[in-house]
Amino acid sequence: MKRGKVSSLKGELHIPGDKSISHRSVMFGAIAEGKTVIKNFLPGADCLSTIDCFKKMGVEIERDNSDVTVYGKGLDQLAEPGELLDVGNSGTTIRLMLGILAGRPFHSTVAGDDSIAKRPMKRVTDPLRQMGAKIDGRAGGEYTPLAVRGGNLAAIDFQSPVASAQIKSAVLLAGLQADGTTTVTEPHKSRDHTERMLSMFGVRLEESDTSVSITGGQTLKGTDVFVPGDISSAAFFLAAGSLVPESEIVLKNVGLNPTRTGIIDVLEKMGADLEIEAKDTGSGELYGDLKIKAASLKATEISGDLIPRLIDEIPIIALLATQAEGMTVIKDAAELKVKETNRIDTVASELKKLGARIEPTEDGMKIYGKTPLTGGAQVSSHGDHRIGMMLGIAACICENPIDIARPEAVSVSYPTFFEHIEKLAKKA
Ligand code: S3P
Repeated sequence: MKRGKVSSLKGELHIPGDKSISHRSVMFGAIAEGKTVIKNFLPGADCLSTIDCFKKMGVEIERDNSDVTVYGKGLDQLAEPGELLDVGNSGTTIRLMLGILAGRPFHSTVAGDDSIAKRPMKRVTDPLRQMGAKIDGRAGGEYTPLAVRGGNLAAIDFQSPVASAQIKSAVLLAGLQADGTTTVTEPHKSRDHTERMLSMFGVRLEESDTSVSITGGQTLKGTDVFVPGDISSAAFFLAAGSLVPESEIVLKNVGLNPTRTGIIDVLEKMGADLEIEAKDTGSGELYGDLKIKAASLKATEISGDLIPRLIDEIPIIALLATQAEGMTVIKDAAELKVKETNRIDTVASELKKLGARIEPTEDGMKIYGKTPLTGGAQVSSHGDHRIGMMLGIAACICENPIDIARPEAVSVSYPTFFEHIEKLAKKA
């Protein structure tokens, strides 16, 4: 796909629903008793994989674009699937669903695409096996396809080696089906959508700063869920609005959960012109409108407990840093290596092709700005939605048009991404 420079981006966007919250709304609706009505569900490929998997376990789910109704009959009514549960490209689907399958007394096999086949699963299968689930897969349960036979779980006290909401959620969902009280402790707090949404479905949890406990045997009651816009998708337009001269963009109803707003902290530290008008959903998740205008940016350092609050935004932050005065350092982010692609490698290689000065490191990268992007190159999403979108925004500021291979990857989390650029763009 050929993409060229734009002279400004102006207007208003409704950012599609949050991916993490959309997944959880379907999964929790599927294991709850009674009807769950979801508004502003993200109809991206990943969340559609979640719907598909739960339908294969006998759950009735109706979808009309971003309106979804899940007719839950409770955990005990999930049925043994007659075929492979295919998660596509979705790490959230496989890891959270494993937590549910771990407690179900039936057999299932789970697999996804080529990217999923390379992503580490022992971080989830190890604690689930410790609780009593039988799980096997390539390399001792590290890689898909995975075969699961669940049931008869006992609670554990689990210290997660990494701050990961996917690990935390999987263990909590197994804990919901275990005898006793399960506790998960993380090195830093990861996104807490599972905790917030389980409470909305009537489950009691105990939370401290980096620990969560759940007692098994509780039942979920179906409820109404409004999914706010995904701040990880909004981040691409926050960056675009900052970088493209004379831009002014309003993003409506974007999720502002404090475990996800690292991008806002970074933009503010870099000197962005950002206004936030917060509102309360009343359904457990804060959201609001964001207004971004073009500004000159300065370099920053990103590390420590900020990393889990912006882990998915690092590709677009790297692009921002190419246009900021000074050296931006990103560290403590080795998790980037096990995302949809190795994002330390893919961010550095694709941005370098456009003229950026960027140095990959063991746990992050160093980016030197301000460096004009010459473009005029062939780049690729490598099948990674966030790399594809970062390159789509990069094209808006490159001197010469660029050719993006595999642009369709964006449909994983933001199917209307390129249409949204067109809607705002004045061509240079
Ligand atoms: C997610 C958690 C994050 C994030 C992913 C979605 C979730 O992964 O990168 O896109 O919905 O729980 P980790 O928590 O495993 O880092």
